[in-house]
Amino acid sequence: MCSCLLQKYESFLPIGPNTPLITLGEGNTPLVRSQRLEKEIGCGELYFKLESCNPTGSFKDRGMVLAVAKAVEARSQTIICASTGNTSASAAAYGARCGLTTLVLVPRGKVAQGKFAQAMIYGAKVIAIDGNFDQALSLVKSLAKKHPVTLVNSLNPNRLHGQKTAAFEIVDALGEAPDYLLIPVGNAGNITAYWLGFTEYYKAGRAKKTPKMMGFEAEGAAPIVLGHPVAEPKTVASAIRIGNPASWQSAIAARDESGGTIDCVSDSEILRAYRLLATAEGLFGEPASAASVAGLIKLANQGVKMTGKRIVCVITGAGLKDPETAMMERDGLWELPPDLAAIEEALEWN
Ligand code: F0G
Repeated sequence: MCSCLLQKYESFLPIGPNTPLITLGEGNTPLVRSQRLEKEIGCGELYFKLESCNPTGSFKDRGMVLAVAKAVEARSQTIICASTGNTSASAAAYGARCGLTTLVLVPRGKVAQGKFAQAMIYGAKVIAIDGNFDQALSLVKSLAKKHPVTLVNSLNPNRLHGQKTAAFEIVDALGEAPDYLLIPVGNAGNITAYWLGFTEYYKAGRAKKTPKMMGFEAEGAAPIVLGHPVAEPKTVASAIRIGNPASWQSAIAARDESGGTIDCVSDSEILRAYRLLATAEGLFGEPASAASVAGLIKLANQGVKMTGKRIVCVITGAGLKDPETAMMERDGLWELPPDLAAIEEALEWN
């Protein structure tokens, strides 16, 4: 089977004879069935879509491969984006692959270490601003209007078209759309893209139904839930620390057209789900990814009936991107002398 995402779903994508079919091996990510949470929640089937298995460790690669292919087709030399980290890592990788200059604006000191390392090693020019993501996005929009550069944030429709392929893969794997799709919401591009994918597959007769779209913002960065922008968004889930999402209106449309909801989860709910995903399922997603699982637990606690339902939680990014947050967990660590008796004593194996 071809490992090129653009080729696989070519008929659904804005690809022409001059679009280069570039690839770093994105897409075709695992859909892994839950071992424990499914039983605890009491739903029919629960799956995790492991977008963390993409080449740069997040779902951004699906959209970036198309955005960069179209930039190359248009003979653009430079791509630019604002990012909480993952978009910059992905843009830097595909930019490097295609010999483009990649320029990224990030909130200074607010990007998880792994993502920052990725942008640096792929050779991006990183501008760290004393401001938040929303300010960075506003600046790159102005720069892209004034200068001959291609904006590769999800305002670029090619990003959304690429990202919708994850919905196609879920339907292809299950043979039908799930009942619920749970997804973290930051700049709201991904929920928009999944809804686009599910509705396109439905219209093409590849699915008989569409799922309810259940989006989850972080409580301290929940503009859509509150109904107004948040000037100083705060959350441990730095990827979704966004106060004025670019795809706000289309996220609301996805929610309403699908009969779903957009709610929020607190940092403690996110961190609990983050640990549970790792310890109960063996899956290490980054904190923002755990918002979908935290949302599932919240729905179950609210008494939402999920008996017999098929649910997919999107694990949007890899846990290793954010080692600082993972290292807060020290319960399993014992520091001991290199001494057999001391180890046996600590283990109570005497
Ligand atoms: N999960 C992760 C791991 C992310 O990196 C993001 C967004 C989201 C969820 C939310 O997706 O923005 O489409 O609603 N990260 C962007 C970035 C903002 O710059 O990397 P969204």
